[in-house]
Parts: sequence; C-alpha cells; structure tokens
Amino acid sequence: MAVTQATQTMEAVAVTPGQAQSARMVTMPRPAVAPGRLLMRVLEVGIDGTDTEINNAQYGEAPAGSDFLVIGHEGLSRVEAVGEGVRGFSAGDLVVATVRRPDGCANCQAGESDMCLTGRYTERGIRGAHGYMAQFYDEVPDFLVKIPPELRSFAVLLEPLSVVEKAVFQAWKIQERLVWQPKRAVILGAGTIGVLAAILLRLRGLEVHVYATTPEDDDRARLVGSLGAAYHDVNRHPLAGLAEELGQIDYILEATGVSSVAFQAIGAVGVDGVVCLVGISGGNRQIEVPGDQLNLRLVIGNRVVFGSVNANRRYFEMGVQHFEEGQRRWPGIFERLITRRVPFNDFRSALDRRPTDIKTLLTIGG
Ligand code: BGC
Ligand code: ZN
Repeated sequence: MAVTQATQTMEAVAVTPGQAQSARMVTMPRPAVAPGRLLMRVLEVGIDGTDTEINNAQYGEAPAGSDFLVIGHEGLSRVEAVGEGVRGFSAGDLVVATVRRPDGCANCQAGESDMCLTGRYTERGIRGAHGYMAQFYDEVPDFLVKIPPELRSFAVLLEPLSVVEKAVFQAWKIQERLVWQPKRAVILGAGTIGVLAAILLRLRGLEVHVYATTPEDDDRARLVGSLGAAYHDVNRHPLAGLAEELGQIDYILEATGVSSVAFQAIGAVGVDGVVCLVGISGGNRQIEVPGDQLNLRLVIGNRVVFGSVNANRRYFEMGVQHFEEGQRRWPGIFERLITRRVPFNDFRSALDRRPTDIKTLLTIGG
C-alpha cells in the first residue's frame, strides 16, 4: 500500500494587496523539490520602502489565483535541497535570488528583464509572485546568485546593492558618449541605497557628497564620513544652493523619491553631467518647476537625466565583487548598515520604519 505523505507546511508573512496594514502570518504548503529547481531555507530578509508601501496598500499584486501575496524581495537563503538535473549548486550553499521574472519580450528573453518592454514581468514579493518572507521558497538556478561564505553577515544587502550597481553602471555606460572624467558625485538620501552608492562611488575614486535630513552627528553621517565622503544635513545646506556650494557636479543619484528633490537635482547637475533617478515616488503630488530654465540647462550643458529600476543577475554578480572590494578597503562597513534585527514573529515591528533605521532584517531561519 502506498504511503501518502502529509503535505508539509511553512509559515510566511503575507498581505492582501489593496488592504492597508494587512500583513499577517499565514501557514501554507512548503514547496517540494522539483526536477530542475532548488529548495531554499530562508535565513533573513531585508525590509525596504517597497515593503512598507505594499503593506500600506499603495503597491503590490497577488499571484494569479491567490488572494494574498507573500512579501519580501531581499532574501539571503541556504540551499536546502537540489532538484534532479541541477548542476553547480550543493545543499548548504548560500544564495540570494533576483527579484524580477521575465515575460516573453525581447529584453526579458535576452536576460534583461530589468529593461522589460511590456511591463508584464512579475517581481517576487512585489508583483504577481510570492516573495521570500517565508521559511522556504523554490526557484530555478538561473535566478540564484551564489554567495561566498565570508560574506554571510551582510550578503542580505545584495539586492539593494544590485539596484545601485545598475544605477552607476548605466550612468558610466551613457557617458561613453563623450570624454568624461567625473570627479564629484552627489547622492540625495542616506538610506540603504544612498549609503551603498557612496561606497561604490568612493571605490571608483570620486569625491562624494551625501545630502539627507538627519543631523551631521548621527550614525549614518559617521558611516558616510568613514568612507571619506562628506555628509550634509539639508536643513543646514539647502538643496537650492547645491551647485553654488559644490561647483561642477558630474553625477547625481536621486534616492529619496521626492519629486521636488528630483527636479532640484536636474537643476543642479553640472555641464556634461548625468542625473540618475532611482527613488520611486509613491504619491500623486503636483509641483511647480522652472521649466524654461531646466530645459535650457539640459540643452546648453549636454546634460542627461535617466531613470533606473530593478537589476538583472549581472548586477548581482558585480555586487558580490564590490562586497569583497569594499570589505577589504573598509572592514566591517557593510555590517554597519544593518541597524536592526527582528525575529520572524515580530514582523510588524520590522515593517514599522524608525528614523534611525538604515536596514532592518527579519531573522527567519538559522
Ligand atoms: C526593488 C526592485 C523593484 C522595485 C519596483 C524595489 O524595491 O528593489 O527590484 O523593481 O522595487 O517594484
Ligand atoms: Zn519583458
């Protein structure tokens, strides 16, 4: 007589998209190890603004056929089991999975789902696919990036780092249009993205200025300072005076998502310079901008403004390299971004963002 094994279950944090503050613990079937796929045990998950927005019902979409969405898109996991036919992975390997899954468009099919043409991609933990805030998930090897064990304590930062890798790489690629010898960069915002950007730009040897709203004697200002970058409190150094205060600015990364700040960046970037917008504005505000002046400056100064979202696995791989480089140059620097670790059951406290948080982690497995 065949023995039917009872389906194993697991716990996950899920929301009902469109319903504010609906984050809750759900019990659901634990994925099985299918041929060609791997089963991962989740160790920890980073929380970001997107998770908070999804829990505020501003964003998020459940997978087809489900009325809930398991959230979490920044996950560090350990391979629990390797399905038949999968090569290159062993049980116990540390992995971070990418977020976006392709549709049939030309870009997606070429491995650049971050540049999807149709908008019909899915994103794990965000849009149409369950995420990593669960005890287990399964995935195909193409979307898994192996992590060297010595990066274990901060590798969960790889997803946000991949977003910054793209924002920087793309700017340098765009600037191949001219002879470009960038010296000075400005970063707007000192959250995870802003601080990781300061690390990458310092590794490239630029003079880096970070502008944010926290006081100049707090932890994140000290963190920025230890990279040899300058931290400026916008309350004392208003963005309106940015260009006058610093002179020629070659690259600006806008990571606040506040549209008025984005337009100030466009107005402040120097001749032949480039502005990259990565902050996603959640609202629907109307603002007034000096249109003639912005238009004139863009044209007369050959300036470029571009947006950048998400990242394909190439940028995750660059991130692993830069983790190693950054760690050699400033030992312990990446751990300093992790300001709070919260046990799985206290997920509500993790989703609640505090002013002193840089990166909050939800600890799930060991
Ligand atoms: C994620 C990206 C994603 C974007 C939009 C961000 O929080 O890091 O991977 O593409 O949200 O959904
Ligand atoms: Zn596509």
